Amino acid sequence: MRHPHTRTTRRRVLGALTAGLLCAAGLATAAPAAPAQARAGVPGLADGLALTPPMGFNNWNSTHCRADFNESMVKGIADLFVAKGLKDAGYQYVNLDDCWALPQRDADGKLVPDPARFPHGIKAVADYVHAKGLRLGIYTSAGTRTCNSAGFPGALGHEYGDAQQFADWGVDYLKYDNCNNQGVDAKQRYTTMRDALRAASRTTGRPIVYSICEWGENKPWEWASGVGHLWRTTGDISDNWGSMLSILKQNLPLAPYAGPGHWNDPDMLEVGNGGMTDTEYRSHFSLWSVMAAPLLIGTDLRKASPATFDILDNKEVIAVDQDPLGRQGTVVSSAGGRWVIAKEMTDGSRAVALFNESGTAQRIATTAAAVGLSDAPAYTLRDLWQHRGYNTAGTIAATVPAHGTVLLRVSADPHWAANPPAAELGLDASPLLEAATPATLTSTVTDLGRTSARRVSVSLTGPDGWTVQPASATTAATLATGRTLRTAWKVTAPPGTPTGAYALTLRADYRSPAGERVTSALPLTASVVVRPPAGTSYLSGLTWLSATSGWGPVERDTSNGESAAGDGHPITIGGTVYARGLGAHAPSDVSFYTGKACTKVTADVGVDDEKGPKGTVAFEIRADGTKVASTGVLTNAMPAQPLTADITGAQVVDLVVTDAGDGNDSDHADWANASVSCGGAAPAVRGD
Ligand code: GLA
Repeated sequence: MRHPHTRTTRRRVLGALTAGLLCAAGLATAAPAAPAQARAGVPGLADGLALTPPMGFNNWNSTHCRADFNESMVKGIADLFVAKGLKDAGYQYVNLDDCWALPQRDADGKLVPDPARFPHGIKAVADYVHAKGLRLGIYTSAGTRTCNSAGFPGALGHEYGDAQQFADWGVDYLKYDNCNNQGVDAKQRYTTMRDALRAASRTTGRPIVYSICEWGENKPWEWASGVGHLWRTTGDISDNWGSMLSILKQNLPLAPYAGPGHWNDPDMLEVGNGGMTDTEYRSHFSLWSVMAAPLLIGTDLRKASPATFDILDNKEVIAVDQDPLGRQGTVVSSAGGRWVIAKEMTDGSRAVALFNESGTAQRIATTAAAVGLSDAPAYTLRDLWQHRGYNTAGTIAATVPAHGTVLLRVSADPHWAANPPAAELGLDASPLLEAATPATLTSTVTDLGRTSARRVSVSLTGPDGWTVQPASATTAATLATGRTLRTAWKVTAPPGTPTGAYALTLRADYRSPAGERVTSALPLTASVVVRPPAGTSYLSGLTWLSATSGWGPVERDTSNGESAAGDGHPITIGGTVYARGLGAHAPSDVSFYTGKACTKVTADVGVDDEKGPKGTVAFEIRADGTKVASTGVLTNAMPAQPLTADITGAQVVDLVVTDAGDGNDSDHADWANASVSCGGAAPAVRGD
């Protein structure tokens, strides 16, 4: 049953409608709040297909065109869908991407499956997949050739024949790409295939889900809801953090266009492919689910780790994606890379992602009211990765690890009191310490619940060889709503500990009023740091605390080459070449420990000559989070600009580049000759 809440929020549908069987063209309001309404009204194809975002597999992200994309892979994936419970979790489509065909059509103009990859043809694969209760998807391009350089046949001008061939094989899903389109209007190309698929599926009785893949080039969200069931909103994803993040940011603003039968598609999943950490993959999966994105597994499950299966099989997260209301989550706040994204659910609850874009742990906080819930004395807070329920008086907050996501489902549930109170664990300051020098860290345990936490105790553990001693109380008999147990800890890393990040764990143990025991743990990292030497040093010769860059890693003494480490060129601004400096790509933040011992940062900043006129950025230096120097917008045509900041007394300095508000295309930002001047005899730095 739908919660009354869902009826109060009216959604504006911005998509212009193209002609569709049951689409009342020109209608610009009325939201499909339920499948039945979607069928009867607008927008969408109104054919009852893809009422929740499609789930399944596609080989492209794991194999591209390699020879291991073949019949045995496809069958193996279908087998694993069943054997590993993924089918039960909702994964249904097993989709073939580019390279399944021979480069030439046969004498009758028909597509020919590559006999080396599919020796028994596509129909045999479809039969196999169907016998397991699954569905088969296929790929071609709305052009004369597909995207692969080998040039497989595309369907432009062959739409009806190819659609019929797909239908005859038993295909249930078509991904229709955009390469070699000969400049023919996109709407026309994609609409022709829609009509061809309709005609073909009428002859076989097998409906076909239609996935438009024109990379967001023609704003399909504005016209494709009556054409296809989903449309790519961006270029291709690749298996790295920067790519995932950039696609996320392009897809989030398109929330108003998504709904049952018509979805934004931010591209297939990279979970399990090795280019991101499991924390990052959990973020990827959480964020795609909160955006109601299609969940197409893009890794070869025959080689997947248990951690990968755990992510892909998380049914509570999948339920967020598959919620029948079909809302795409929207951004509640995003300051400082602390994202709160909330998705209204059919039962009136909200899925809430607390996503930390930044490279260090951060507290991310919101409230039940801010995510659209109100008037309840307390709420149930379900943690969808921990699989645990709590109660909250209204605050929704957590310290989220770097690049991590805490995914919650918050509901105005009358049974909230059956859950123990939520407790928020945190550390007061970011833990930076010098080896052999005791630092004081302060932990906090705060009761967010409507009920009190009883018999609270806290512990902090560090790596082997470290000493961690409490310097104040580690227990509290009871913590009422909003109350905090604050504990000071003296933490010492052994002499000679190399610089870098080290794991600490903060644990809390408490009981609900009914005596239910809760243990929770917060993984943290402490950075062992050294102050820069006395005198002036190039920053490219120092160890940074963290570095983020819009494309590729930040480079030392070269420009940013956009992908792998070391792929940059000599730093060049306005024709001048610099031997030293940092090469970044907006948006970027490089953080250095200065230990209250330094006075000045200087650099000659600008956009590297290697890029064209689209490169526009702004530079900024922050001392302990406060802006102390900045440039206006610098363009590729401008010479280097000197930038100097007084950073006296700062513990940490950040070199920040923004995209100047116009997107980050070509934003190669150089910090030429970046250097820091420090004194010799600063006091030992402590965390307190
Ligand atoms: C395009 C698509 C990808 C993939 C390849 C195949 O780049 O966007 O998703 O299908 O083509 O060649």
